[in-house]
Amino acid sequence: MSRVAIVTGGTRGIGEAISLALREMGYTVAANYAGNVEKAKAFTDATGIAAYKWDVGDHQACLDGCAQVAADLGPVDIVVNNAGITRDGVLAKMSFDDWNEVMRINLGGCFNMAKATFPGMRERRWGRIVNIGSINGQAGQYGQVNYAAAKSGIHGFTKALAQEGAKYGVTVNAIAPGYIDTDMVAAVPAQVLEKIVARIPVGRLGKAQEIARGVAFLCSEDAGFVTGSTLSINGGQHMY
Ligand code: CAA
Repeated sequence: MSRVAIVTGGTRGIGEAISLALREMGYTVAANYAGNVEKAKAFTDATGIAAYKWDVGDHQACLDGCAQVAADLGPVDIVVNNAGITRDGVLAKMSFDDWNEVMRINLGGCFNMAKATFPGMRERRWGRIVNIGSINGQAGQYGQVNYAAAKSGIHGFTKALAQEGAKYGVTVNAIAPGYIDTDMVAAVPAQVLEKIVARIPVGRLGKAQEIARGVAFLCSEDAGFVTGSTLSINGGQHMY
């Protein structure tokens, strides 16, 4: 029986590329999504990958959603915490809700998903958790105190949980993408994005598949000695 992987935010953008890459490795993939039912249906129709709707910021929904995936497909051995949102704005204009939603979903989602799946991985003595952080969690970004704090938190969460999983064969790693050609980055005002791209040594935005290939490696058997690491995939924008 092939291993079962859950990719949060797995029907669009970087998550979609990750779902496809893990499926290509022979894993059975469940793609979680929060809201866009139409896109999720199109994704399942096109790929045959099952999509499951729940909000990763909702603790109970994660417990229930992961239990449902396990009942349908088998025990969950791999989790990619990819789901994330932005609510950009300078601090003076940022509401508490903008702060809280980003923390609840981007960082809280990692905790909720780990609570739902890490104990089983530990019991079965094999697991892979990959958390999608960000260059902006490493370097900070004007107008993103919420997102940078949540993503920076993800990097700390990764290193802490990696220590708990190591002796049970459960690896926990992070990827820190730079600016990738997705809807999220397309929402950055054009004149701001132009300046950001000008600072990327490789001279272009990244592709979702370039993140997915890194995730695929970290989820492979071969990566058993890699844990607590952060792989930066950012075109050289921030060398950390
Ligand atoms: N550094 C210093 N000053 C800056 C600045 C920067 N990077 N960016 C803007 N400013 C200054 C402006 O020059 C301006 O100054 P003046 O008032 O003196 O002219 C002032 O800040 C206000 O700038 P804006 O007019 O841009 O302010 P705004 O409120 O309209 O917008 C913003 C602010 C929403 C943060 C907008 O600048 C923005 O969207 N920035 C991009 C943020 C970003 O990179 N988000 C990434 C999203 S993708 C992602 O997060 C994925 C990932 O992991 C990489």
